[in-house]
Amino acid sequence: MADALVPTKPHIQARAHVASFAAYEALHRASLADPSGFWRRQAQRVTWFRQFDETVQQDFARAEVAWFLGGKLNASYNCVDRHLAERAEQTAIVWAKDEPGQYERISYRQLHEHVGRLANVLRRFGVRKGDRVCIYLPMMPEAVYAMLACARIGAVHSVVFAGFSADALRDRIADADCRVVLTANEGLRGGKTIPLKKTVDEAIAGLPVHTVLVAQRTATATPMQQGRDRWLADELPKQRACCPVEWMDSEDPLFVLYTSGSTGKPKGQLHTTGGYLVYASYTHELVFDWRPGDVHFCAADVGWVTGHSYIVYGPLCNGATTVLFESTPLHPDAGRYWQVVDDVQANIFYTAPTALRALLRVGDEPVKKHARTSLRVLGSVGEPINPEVWQWYHDVVGDKRCAVVDTWWQTETGGILISALPGATPCKPGSATFPLPGVRPLLVDDQGKELVGNGVSGNLCLAGSWPGQARTILNDHARFQQTYFAMYPGLYFTGDGCRRDEDGYYWITGRVDDVLNVAGHRLGTAEIESALVSHEFCAEAAVVGFPHDLKGQGIYAYVIAGKAAEGVPAAEVEAVLKQVVRKVISPIATPDRIQVVPGLPKTRSGKIMRRILRKVAEANYTELGDLSTLAEPQVVEQIVQGHKAGR
Ligand code: PRX
Repeated sequence: MADALVPTKPHIQARAHVASFAAYEALHRASLADPSGFWRRQAQRVTWFRQFDETVQQDFARAEVAWFLGGKLNASYNCVDRHLAERAEQTAIVWAKDEPGQYERISYRQLHEHVGRLANVLRRFGVRKGDRVCIYLPMMPEAVYAMLACARIGAVHSVVFAGFSADALRDRIADADCRVVLTANEGLRGGKTIPLKKTVDEAIAGLPVHTVLVAQRTATATPMQQGRDRWLADELPKQRACCPVEWMDSEDPLFVLYTSGSTGKPKGQLHTTGGYLVYASYTHELVFDWRPGDVHFCAADVGWVTGHSYIVYGPLCNGATTVLFESTPLHPDAGRYWQVVDDVQANIFYTAPTALRALLRVGDEPVKKHARTSLRVLGSVGEPINPEVWQWYHDVVGDKRCAVVDTWWQTETGGILISALPGATPCKPGSATFPLPGVRPLLVDDQGKELVGNGVSGNLCLAGSWPGQARTILNDHARFQQTYFAMYPGLYFTGDGCRRDEDGYYWITGRVDDVLNVAGHRLGTAEIESALVSHEFCAEAAVVGFPHDLKGQGIYAYVIAGKAAEGVPAAEVEAVLKQVVRKVISPIATPDRIQVVPGLPKTRSGKIMRRILRKVAEANYTELGDLSTLAEPQVVEQIVQGHKAGR
């Protein structure tokens, strides 16, 4: 059956940057015919202190990419200073606080002062160009000030999502060798407080962190270590609001952001200044069809790449009003997003399917209670969006009046690569549709052979670089090369599976490696397994994903109990191990179910047959495939029985 096509809407086309599908196709074709010329022109959207000499150099075999070589610029200057002439009094940031109905508006002029002062505080505490600074802040304006203050003086920020545990934070601070950490006494989200400063204290014990700068979000006191910990409220007034910018080379690092892979510890993806900023600005304008005056509401957290590119750098570089949303979609009720949309008159709204699924479940009434007439473009990101959720987003949230864009990208890509364009692309609900101009996706089979034409499924790769591409993994270029460029020589491999249908539409089918996508959060199975085996109750663990109504994917852990667990009831082993994962990684990584098993299905060479474990976790007991190659085929039956018993 042909997929239903949702046509573009004339009133959106009428004002769109790209106003027809033919125009998109022409633009895409031209961009691939002359990528260098295309990106050279796009690069003029940012302000260069010194123009670049060469557009791009790329060598995928060595995993080396550089954009806008010889150019000098500053990201903070582009996101703040350059707007002062025309829009100093325009709101740059609307902070929608956790407390319903409470907003704070920060103009570009005020943003300039806050960023300058904080940059001077960082300098005062010894931060220099190239130093890494850890930002472990909740969704408060200080998080944005901190990012831009780092960028201003050429320091490299490493934002760690404030939901990560002390252990996870510690690993990231140590890996990036951060000496300065910014945090808050507590976070506030959905009415609950989160003890951030306490977590930082635990995380940095024994590490060479010399300064912790603490913002105050709640009235709760927190112990301050003399000589190390400082209240921002005490330090900021001592500094001048004006701080000259450091002119950076285009390829100087802007930030590092950790993300999970299929093996080992999270990888610090390193993004550089010129390419990243141009790409964030370009995609923000094109995909959301942003125009001056539009209010952009991206409901992600600044701790993820979506927050970096589409709360901070993209919108601010373009001079937008960006919304910083501290709360949750369900606090105080399921109408919260739409209340904020009305209160701030948001034109663009961007969230993850997992949030939409939770809202759809509550029904239409909390949506319809609010007007939502300001909305024009609705975006989705982070995981495949089910067609019925897409349709609900379009019909109910958008009143069939807004464009819906399903945007596919990754931490590594810096910005959106595949997405509909509001005024140009007829949509198929559930498909991310087509590559942006300048982007050339390619599908290959497992042998690396390109799958040409339409109606094909394979592994999603990219041919050729784009400016937003991550340049390396911090401290581990070999792993960067290995992970993304070794599998299919000459191509960047995304780790995603994808179908290109008969009409050329791209459908992302999910990860083809051992990476899970749980409620839009990316987690490596290896990471969760290593957390589990860190406790003596667990001798061995195998983690797989299974379909989950709300979260997209749930986490299922099979564990072989350790000696210390002998005689301990299974329910207790399960509870203890869940707690361990929360502590080692984060509550977001907590397994939905832990099943204690007598053994794991392994080949005679000792390799765990995850395929079988996935099928069992899905309760698909009849398609386990050939078990004859297993070392102990009988464990499968025991695992199946255990799974059935636990349902
Ligand atoms: O599997 C894809 C999925 O999320 C992965 C990237 O995760 P992360 O680096 O955390 O970045 C998330 C925000 C950009 C991808 O490899 N993914 C992301 N967007 C989509 C998606 N899957 C399907 N459709 C999308 N729109």
